[in-house]
Amino acid sequence: MAVLVTGGTGYIGSHTVVELLNEGKEVIIADNFSNSKTEVLDAIEKITGKRPRIYNIDCRSAESLEKIFEENHIDSVINFAGYKAVGESVKLPLKYYNNNLFEAVTLLEVMQKFNCKKFIFSSSATIYGDPGVPEYVEEMGRGKTSNPYGTTKAMIEQILEDLYFSDNSWNICILRYFNPIGAHESGMLGENPNGIPNNLMPYIMKVASGKLEKLNIFGNDYDTKDGTGMRDYLHVVDLAEGHVKALDKLDKEDSGLFIYNLGTGTPYSVLDIVTTFEKVNNIKIPYEIVPRRPGDLAIYYANCKKANEELGWVAKKGIEDMCRDSWNFEKNLQ
Ligand code: WQD
Repeated sequence: MAVLVTGGTGYIGSHTVVELLNEGKEVIIADNFSNSKTEVLDAIEKITGKRPRIYNIDCRSAESLEKIFEENHIDSVINFAGYKAVGESVKLPLKYYNNNLFEAVTLLEVMQKFNCKKFIFSSSATIYGDPGVPEYVEEMGRGKTSNPYGTTKAMIEQILEDLYFSDNSWNICILRYFNPIGAHESGMLGENPNGIPNNLMPYIMKVASGKLEKLNIFGNDYDTKDGTGMRDYLHVVDLAEGHVKALDKLDKEDSGLFIYNLGTGTPYSVLDIVTTFEKVNNIKIPYEIVPRRPGDLAIYYANCKKANEELGWVAKKGIEDMCRDSWNFEKNLQ
């Protein structure tokens, strides 16, 4: 009985593959390396002593997916495959709708054909839109998304709800991530986006390594403790463990549609991240305050009570670990 992990060589996917292998699960990866490198497989093998079987496929191809189901005994699927750059999605919406939606629907169709109905989906806090309160609770439901990337996440959540309504023998878990940062403590796995990063921590990394001159902080006039935006950052290894717990949950249930926030519940400001990074790594991060980035909210964070109670999951690592591990990975890329 194997777990199929689509996008298993990406940032969150690779960390989850490690945790699954550490739990003794058999893992099959489907990935087309569109935003990752084959060396990730070597790192996974070095960390776990196991090398998962990999299919280099585009998950929009039903034929390629069917081959995986024919050749293996797939019991469950965790879907990480998808494009995730917010800015690019605004410029190239069709690329995002085509890839993320067709991939999810094709995967679900193939699962249905092979009567495999255990599915975990990577969703995002972005689906809440702007609910007007900073603490996001699962029951709030989806709001108006602010970019096509976020809309693909919201649409796939809707597709999963419709699918479960049509056939309640499905066993589905939607995980809404807040802001994953950090890297594996070995320094062998982490986030290494192509081009100039959009997200805060990858950008700080490029400044710390001298590849970019300074960090632009988008606004210091928000209604927050220091005026900079506040987010619920969580360590990617904690997030990966959340997937293992979600799989355990589905293994215990016959069927259902479950939704959980995965965060720490504690927001930190941009300046908190910068000063903590400087302190734990002893590196100065030059920055400049620039105007707000359109679409950004002042502050939001997860209410994680449901994941704590129903999955027995709680994020264990703090921002010092996140800042230290991120840099430990980036240093190895030099
Ligand atoms: C965090 C804070 C910025 C960069 C996005 C997506 C979300 C999810 C995670 C992923 C904000 C500030 C950032 C910079 C800055 N999706 N910032 N200078 O926007 O909370 O969430 O990533 O796949 O869907 O929307 O994360 O890391 O971009 O920003 O000042 O150069 O850092 O304004 O307050 P965000 P982020």
